[in-house]
Amino acid sequence: MDLELSEEQNLLQKTVREFAESEVRPLAKELDETGHFPHALFKKAAELGLTGVAFPESEGGASFDHIAYTIVIEEISRCCASTGVILSVQNSLYCDPIHRYGTEEQKRKFLLPYTRGEKIGCFALTEPQAGSNAAVLQTKAVRKGDKYIVNGTKSWITNGGAADAAIVYVNTEPAKGEKGITALVVEKGTPGFKVGKEEKKLGINATACCELVFTDCEVPAKNRIGNEGEGYKVALSTLDGGRIGVGAQATGIAQNAFEAALQYSQQRLAFGQPISQFQAIQFMLADMATEIDASRLLIRKAAWKQDTGARFSMDAAVAKLFASEMATRVTHKAIQIHGGNGYSREYPVERNYRDARITEIYEGTSEIQRLVISSWVLKS
Ligand code: CAA
Repeated sequence: MDLELSEEQNLLQKTVREFAESEVRPLAKELDETGHFPHALFKKAAELGLTGVAFPESEGGASFDHIAYTIVIEEISRCCASTGVILSVQNSLYCDPIHRYGTEEQKRKFLLPYTRGEKIGCFALTEPQAGSNAAVLQTKAVRKGDKYIVNGTKSWITNGGAADAAIVYVNTEPAKGEKGITALVVEKGTPGFKVGKEEKKLGINATACCELVFTDCEVPAKNRIGNEGEGYKVALSTLDGGRIGVGAQATGIAQNAFEAALQYSQQRLAFGQPISQFQAIQFMLADMATEIDASRLLIRKAAWKQDTGARFSMDAAVAKLFASEMATRVTHKAIQIHGGNGYSREYPVERNYRDARITEIYEGTSEIQRLVISSWVLKS
């Protein structure tokens, strides 16, 4: 692994930072307050290739590697964490399994318009009673001729209210438990598919995070991704890549909070001098800088491993666990450095603090990451 970014990756970082500063940051506060999904911004991100970063050009992608992908998600999340995860779900959770498991026909229909950002995708695994234990999902699909009849409810679906299609994990053979899970692409407008209630959340407010409800929904059998019973593996292997995206998101949120705290500490006077002159503040800044650096390295290492083609489940879990818990610590300190102002909506760090918290929960809680890591440690 080369720790130096390539010329191409450096250029991408510069381009995405300029885009994020000029187009994303000015909208972040409003998106947080209104919770409106940023459709126009999504289209602009698509024009830069950010909706299909690490997919080949033949599949509509920008043909970068996964390290470049982490740079994109970090830079966008540094300015707006909602937009960061919207793009992460589009790339990692929707496009990636179709890229890896889809047929040529499926890729033409369900991948190309999505990597190009003409359409929005989402990933529907979680249910009201199946979160960490995804294997017990209750959404059923019964095969009838060339269709599946789908019944069930999915919850907490990022991009759900805005998506043109969802990859929906159903059970086609409940007696087989997780070995009966199958992945189906369900398009918006399919009779029997409707968007349910939108979640009111602590942070990342603009992600159209909704329930998806399926009532005798007829899905063409040709929309199945992979084989019947292969869905659990499709989901878990997809989440490996997703977890790297969430780690990059956490790193971007923390980076922003750090920069804000650093600047504030140099401007804010107390006891006759800038508070950055006090060792208590300096040590907080030192810890923040150290942890962000460590986190970024772990994320890039996991992405590098993904690019080698080797199994990277443990690397992704390690990186996501560290980065997400780091983001909570760093944003907490950023508020502390801002004092009362940090608690005010006038300053960005309270939003960073709220946005950071979800990264310890979605795409596998910290406890699930520790389960994954310990299972690899014990078998090594
Ligand atoms: N890649 C490929 N195959 C994998 C895999 C991976 N990463 N992980 C597991 N598998 C395979 C295993 O090899 C095994 O196959 P065999 O039966 O052929 O041996 C099979 O899948 C089952 O594996 P395990 O027994 O290890 O799986 P498990 O049932 O013990 O998994 C778990 C346990 C780790 C808790 C897993 O269920 C898990 O990760 N749960 C968390 C789910 C999650 O992250 N949900 C997030 C929802 S999505 C979201 O948040 C999106 C959003 O809004 C942003």
